[in-house]
Amino acid sequence: MTAHLVTGIGELVTFDPQHPGPLGVAEDAALVVVDGHVAWTGPRAAAPAADTHQDLDGAAVLPGFVDSHTHLVFAGDRSAEFEARSAGLRYTGGGIATTVAATRAASTDRLTARARALAAEARRQGTTTIEVKSGYGLDVPTEERLLRVARTITPETTFLGAHVVPDGVDRSDYLALVTGPMLAACAPLARWADVFCEPGSPVAFDEDESRTVLAAAAAAGLGLRVHGNQLGPGPGARLAVELGAASVDHATHLSDGDVAGLADAAAHGGPVVTLLPGVELSTRSPFPDARRLLDAGIEVALATDCNPGTCYSTSMPLMVALAVSLMGMTTGEAVRAATLAGARALRRDDVGHLRVGARADLCVLDAPSHRHLAYRPGVPLARTLELPGRGHVE
Ligand code: NIG
Ligand code: FE
Repeated sequence: MTAHLVTGIGELVTFDPQHPGPLGVAEDAALVVVDGHVAWTGPRAAAPAADTHQDLDGAAVLPGFVDSHTHLVFAGDRSAEFEARSAGLRYTGGGIATTVAATRAASTDRLTARARALAAEARRQGTTTIEVKSGYGLDVPTEERLLRVARTITPETTFLGAHVVPDGVDRSDYLALVTGPMLAACAPLARWADVFCEPGSPVAFDEDESRTVLAAAAAAGLGLRVHGNQLGPGPGARLAVELGAASVDHATHLSDGDVAGLADAAAHGGPVVTLLPGVELSTRSPFPDARRLLDAGIEVALATDCNPGTCYSTSMPLMVALAVSLMGMTTGEAVRAATLAGARALRRDDVGHLRVGARADLCVLDAPSHRHLAYRPGVPLARTLELPGRGHVE
């Protein structure tokens, strides 16, 4: 059991109440890692002896980012759809069919190589935990294949057979497939299930359909997540509260009743609200009102939603910068949302913070403070710190 000492940490964000402020910050700090876990944090001057040592020369260190919402497994290209938005095309979800066709036609090796490349890209920007959904197969063999690929990247895999009703398939037949044979084949490969609940969209699922999908998934032992209130007002957030989902994601269009329901539920571990500002950036839509949620006492997470349609970015630092400059979050709130709250959205307590016992997943900034993530948008400041015993994104 070797102890590794990291010194020269100008600002160490831990979320440990033994250090001051809402972020639990230690300054001029050091950290000791034993067996890949945090064993000690505190001022450099008080650091214990260790077997190995590295110095970061004043860099800021945060918990690695937790990207709790991605769709990394896909093939094909939708840059033309993105381009068409500059001429006024609105996002409706209709382009998902293009990705489904390309994904079905791609070999598993090709899908794996591309998904792994995206996960590596995320890691280079400080992401150490990542969730990955299926949802571009929409038939039993392809959904199963996508989850097998996802499992080579992360244990946080999500079955999203209920992404949209595929072209040429009857709605009720598809619902029976998703909640029957597809769920049976995919549940053993997934930790979570998700549904695109958007009654205004001709391709996504309405309240009753979404409830049916989520209830079947819960009965199969999966935890629940919801794509809700993305394109307009709807029942997604309410359903997430009703069914005890871990998270409702997008949540751009929430009513006062939705916010009140989420705030009530927050007192007893209700859904985290995961905002995905890269989607608003890429689809040219109004950004969600993060302030309203935070002021109501709701846990807000930030994630990339990396996918070929609504946000083809793996960059958590970009999401932090957008949240601060365009959504009214403070830099501290945005860093919490990208780390601790992301972990809560995945119901994980071993990541997203640097309290003693946490996984030593560290994000190092080429900057003296977490504030620089928003202060210097688009600059590649963040990286992960490779330590003995800590490896790939999970
Ligand atoms: O989270 N809204 C639903 N699904 C994805 C986008 C899928 C796509 O357009 O390919 C999302 O934004
Ligand atoms: Fe999504």
